[in-house]
Amino acid sequence: MNHLLSIDDLSQGDINRLFFRARQLKKARFSRESEKPNRVIFGLFLEPSTRTRMSFESAASRLGFRWINFDASFSSLKKGESIRDTLLNLAAMEPDLMVMRHYEVLDDALLAGIEIPVINAGDSSREHPTQALLDCFTLLEAFNTDDLRGRTLAIVGDVVHSRVARSTAKLAERLKARVIYIAPLPFLPTGVPRENCYKCFESVEEGVDMVMALRTQKERIFGSLPMCDGEYYQKFGVTKKVLNQFGEDCLLLHPGPANIGVEIDEMAMLDKRSLILTQVKNGVFVRASVMEWLMNTGDRCG
Ligand code: NCD
Repeated sequence: MNHLLSIDDLSQGDINRLFFRARQLKKARFSRESEKPNRVIFGLFLEPSTRTRMSFESAASRLGFRWINFDASFSSLKKGESIRDTLLNLAAMEPDLMVMRHYEVLDDALLAGIEIPVINAGDSSREHPTQALLDCFTLLEAFNTDDLRGRTLAIVGDVVHSRVARSTAKLAERLKARVIYIAPLPFLPTGVPRENCYKCFESVEEGVDMVMALRTQKERIFGSLPMCDGEYYQKFGVTKKVLNQFGEDCLLLHPGPANIGVEIDEMAMLDKRSLILTQVKNGVFVRASVMEWLMNTGDRCG
């Protein structure tokens, strides 16, 4: 089935095609795009969301599709129905597409027999492919380039529990960026070269062109935190001072939601180097291009 569950599902040709279409949609501001009013999309968000859900929903509506939201808190999940059975029932209604956020992994077992394309809008701490696409789209647009060759992205904070970090790092590396991580030891990823991992800002001596701050995913941490919020801010908060350390042209990303005064400060968010609201703006166009593609044919480029 033509799902989009991971960045690994996309070839370089697919990525180029999605970015090309997102650029077209952004330029045209969606004009004359509402030619398929009968298409129906189900949104199933089993975890809270502001940006992801609203941008999918507004992109669907700008494209003339009908978005129907599944209200998990008032559904038969509350009567003991399983998520798998809920999905089979929703798929039986034959929507054209389902957009799903789940606190567990969206895997083959869960989706077996679902003949409707599914877009992963964030699953557990595994992947968030459309966030990665909008992050990288925003960076390519800002640098006005086709790839991130010769540039370094520093991902700061709770990498280990972050689906955004996992997907964005993968895509940035596909686009030839070097990705480094700055975090307290328990938040650093395993399986990446040790020379790409730093335990404080001061020890980073290489150049950094892009910095992405991450929220600590407290809802996924069952033991104690490495330190309290105040100490975390002192040591790992992305402030103007940190941006200045990386230089005048260092761009700032954050997927949201931001905890101001913990992983980031307001002055950094408002700085001219910040792309945070541009990420949100571009999310609508990028998600529109992904939905349109999967609904139309979902043909993969080689
Ligand atoms: C993130 C998510 O839900 O994965 N936000 C988003 O989708 N823009 C990050 C987070 O919750 O910290």
